[in-house]
Amino acid sequence: MDDKSLVAAAFEARTHAYTPYSHWAVGAALLCSDGTVYRGCNIENAAYTPSNCAERTAFFHAIYDGHRDFAAIAVVGGPEGREATDYCAPCGVCRQVMREFCSLDDFRIVLGKSDGEMRTYTLRELLPESFGPENLA
Ligand code: THU
Repeated sequence: MDDKSLVAAAFEARTHAYTPYSHWAVGAALLCSDGTVYRGCNIENAAYTPSNCAERTAFFHAIYDGHRDFAAIAVVGGPEGREATDYCAPCGVCRQVMREFCSLDDFRIVLGKSDGEMRTYTLRELLPESFGPENLA
């Protein structure tokens, strides 16, 4: 799947977001190395801390289904019910979850906007000097 289609999947996922507190709706589409795509949205909670980001919703569903190899994730977000006029970069917690399963230099993080613009980063660019599984090996 190309990046444009992956971003389109993230925009579809964004329509599922449950955001009664922040009113900030995010969608993610995670591309597994075998071509499977998992979608995720943010899911908020009245107690705030149990809220889950779109990226982790996608990762946890994929991992539950047995996937361990990931190629890319597309992320889109912005004010609920409005177009995504700016890029929405993954939070630190989501970057660390990616670090558990993804290659620092090969895994691509594609940020999208409603106007069709995209910006792509490696995980190393978004999480330099990181701590991962091999540190504990
Ligand atoms: N959020 C995401 O789902 N992913 C991001 O990349 C940034 C933030 C969510 C968390 C919360 O539900 C809302 O956006 C505002 O922070």
